Amino acid sequence: MKTIIVGERTVLRTIRDDELELIRRWRNIPENRRMFFTDHDISPEEHRNWFDKIAADEARGTYCIAEARDDRCVGNITYEIEEPGEVALLGIMIGPEDDRGKGYGAEAIALLSEELAASRDVSKVAVEVFSTNRDALVFYRKIGFTIVRVEPERNMQDGKPCDVNILEKKLTSQ
Ligand SMILES: CC(C)(COP(=O)(O)OP(=O)(O)OC[C@H]1O[C@@H](n2cnc3c(N)ncnc32)[C@H](O)[C@@H]1OP(=O)(O)O)[C@@H](O)C(=O)NCCC(=O)NCCS
Repeated sequence: MKTIIVGERTVLRTIRDDELELIRRWRNIPENRRMFFTDHDISPEEHRNWFDKIAADEARGTYCIAEARDDRCVGNITYEIEEPGEVALLGIMIGPEDDRGKGYGAEAIALLSEELAASRDVSKVAVEVFSTNRDALVFYRKIGFTIVRVEPERNMQDGKPCDVNILEKKLTSQ
């Protein structure tokens, strides 16, 4: 996989130490963390371990989503190749509220998907989204994902069972 992937609005690149802490803080904002499977307050140590574990794993990766004009970190995107030559599971967060709705998320997913298809022969990407995350469901469907399965009450959210939607998008390698 490339270490830098350049798009029009965003660049996907390595996360720097100061940005790792920034991402941890965004990730811990209650409105964000309730939308992820790991929903407790993440300590700096746990976050660093998460990052190191990904770095050591051939099947996984994470990038800083940086604004193309000024290299400012606006979020992060991760992948995990679940079945080689088949499917990669993605996760994304645009941190600052002000930076949402500007096309960064859509471009980051397109750039990473293209790279996964070209370098790792991945033929489809998937995401797992809580039914309560209406914004993310609208977003993913707008950028070409379709719901392939709903797993009823797979997770707990705010002390209540929550359905998880599995969405996929087929990729075409160049
Ligand atoms: C979901 C998320 C990644 C979307 O990224 P983003 O950069 O804000 O989305 P974009 O600006 O690239 O939007 C792409 C398209 O989706 C639409 N869209 C994005 N968020 C939307 C929302 N909340 N409501 C309606 N449409 C939305 C945009 O209008 C755009 O459509 P267009 O091309 O017709 O203009 C971002 O809002 C986020 O990080 N949310 C919090 C974390 C999260 O829920 N992550 C997903 C966990 S599964």
